Amino acid sequence: MIIEPRTRGFICLTSHPTGCEQNVINQIEYVKSKGKIEGAKKVLVIGASTGFGLASRISSAFGSDAATIGVFFDKPGTEGRPGSPGYYNTAAFEKHANAAGLYAKSVNGDAFSNEIKEEVIQLIKEDLGQIDLVIYSLASPVRTHPTTGKRYKSVLKPIGDVFSNKTVDFHTGNVSEISINPAEGDDVENTVTVMGGEDWKMWMDALQAENLLANGATTVAYSYIGPEVTKPVYRNGTIGAAKDHLEATAFTIADALKSIDGKAYVSVNKALVTQASSAIPVIPLYISLLYKIMKSKGIHEGCIEQIQRLYSQRLFGRDLALDAKGRIRIDDWEMREDVQAEVASLWEKATTENLSEIGDLEGYSNDFYNLFGFKVAAVDYAADVNEVVQVPSIQ
Ligand code: NAI
Repeated sequence: MIIEPRTRGFICLTSHPTGCEQNVINQIEYVKSKGKIEGAKKVLVIGASTGFGLASRISSAFGSDAATIGVFFDKPGTEGRPGSPGYYNTAAFEKHANAAGLYAKSVNGDAFSNEIKEEVIQLIKEDLGQIDLVIYSLASPVRTHPTTGKRYKSVLKPIGDVFSNKTVDFHTGNVSEISINPAEGDDVENTVTVMGGEDWKMWMDALQAENLLANGATTVAYSYIGPEVTKPVYRNGTIGAAKDHLEATAFTIADALKSIDGKAYVSVNKALVTQASSAIPVIPLYISLLYKIMKSKGIHEGCIEQIQRLYSQRLFGRDLALDAKGRIRIDDWEMREDVQAEVASLWEKATTENLSEIGDLEGYSNDFYNLFGFKVAAVDYAADVNEVVQVPSIQ
């Protein structure tokens, strides 16, 4: 079929298999161009099909020749109905990993559930024996708790006061004021249950209980801090409470891993356009200003550049360069004083009329379409494409 983008707000209902494959190829080529990384050889990535998780899987496989198992929650395409981009990305990843002689298997299902954990455990037992790196990169709006069966929904709200600030509709470029009411009732607790560290700990406990973690195994989960302008809705908001919990969980996991000389870290990553971040009000405006500034300074990175640098310079490099709270900071260039000062000054000025000039709205919009395999260079969108694509390891 001919597949075109069909957007509804911050989601796109369609995705393009060839465009997704080209994105994966571009990321593979980038990692290969940077040379080998003396990294982990048997890697489990939870949240492996898009964004930072996909970049982690690609960096491990093509940077360190690692065998990878990827877990994600995506829809395959069916006749006349394109699948979700994570499915096409994974199909492309496995195809190219297999062609390079690399082990790659995938598990599609709810990572929060006991069943999927069990399936992954069996797969590790059968195929890899033990894992030496676990990347935890889930971003989900909901979680069904595996012990109680209760379904929790996360919310993106400030805590305490109403938050009013500018935001942009990145489809139209319209800059407007929004007000977001503060969390109420169980909002904070629910968001922490979905996006905090409990499930990460459950994964690590389950793997350790089965002796599936190699001596010296490392686990990393991803967090975000960001600038003053987004603080009320991000770091000091409900999602920030979840990130605080995730970061605290790194220490609990590190304690539990001491017996195998294992390590647990949180890496604070840069703000990037992904399906997860497009859903957060105010962030798209911040990102479009940030992109403009970072590109003009020659320090802009996407997910793959971020993770390649995380691996080669921090995790498997000479210096983790942990901050005062024990976190890896690969958001260092985003948070540079000169970058933040310029964002703050542009923020004051940003209007519908000038955003396309002072911000990188086009870059934001392109990245958004790219997530779904659209507007990718060298892809012929007029060509008929098969929407039903298999992930080789999932039959
Ligand atoms: P994303 O939306 O691109 O990827 C999320 C992944 O989780 C996908 O592979 C998806 O299939 C998987 N997933 C979601 N629910 C699942 C479930 N129930 N079971 C199995 N898999 C499931 O998100 P992104 O942006 O790469 O986020 C990953 C992590 O990085 C998150 O913790 C996020 O907070 C963090 N982060 C994101 C930043 C950003 O600007 N995008 C910045 C810094 C950190």
